[in-house]
Amino acid sequence: MKQKPKNIILCGFMGSGKTTVGRRLAQKAHMEFIDMDDYIEQREGRTITDIFAQDGEETFRRMETEAARELASRRGLVIAAGGGTLLRAQNVKIFRKSGVTVLLDTPIGFIQERLKNDTARPLLQKPNRKKVVADLYRKRLPAYCAAADVIVDGSGGADRVAGRVLEQVK
Ligand code: S3P
Repeated sequence: MKQKPKNIILCGFMGSGKTTVGRRLAQKAHMEFIDMDDYIEQREGRTITDIFAQDGEETFRRMETEAARELASRRGLVIAAGGGTLLRAQNVKIFRKSGVTVLLDTPIGFIQERLKNDTARPLLQKPNRKKVVADLYRKRLPAYCAAADVIVDGSGGADRVAGRVLEQVK
């Protein structure tokens, strides 16, 4: 039997399109799609918001690393990582061993627009969201770039971006 391909791990800021692009990419590449946040929520039986509120961010980050280990032990997956996952060296190492890490480099204006009315992301539930997003984005960008094997322009529709990713990881 033919061996399944290596995983493709999409990383980038919240709202950069990891989930929508990841779904499309998985269809195009005939791979299985897994969104890490959904995976953790299902495993825990509660939402990310509840995990942050009840147990704090550090506990969530430990869950992310556990999830990364589990997913990295499989093959043939397109994984939409959480926006904070690839900021930890440990997770970068885990994922890079299992496949290729791809940064969706999406313009900050698109991201701010997409996150404008978000209620599901605990880190954004603060006043002056636009600035919170811009500051965090600026702070994180160097780490995202360092964690990525390839960087792909994340602007445009999911189908086009998924096509760009496939070109890069072929
Ligand atoms: C986070 C991003 C979220 C989620 C959690 C924390 C972050 O994932 O894991 O709210 O630290 O950037 P998405 O990037 O899928 O929104």
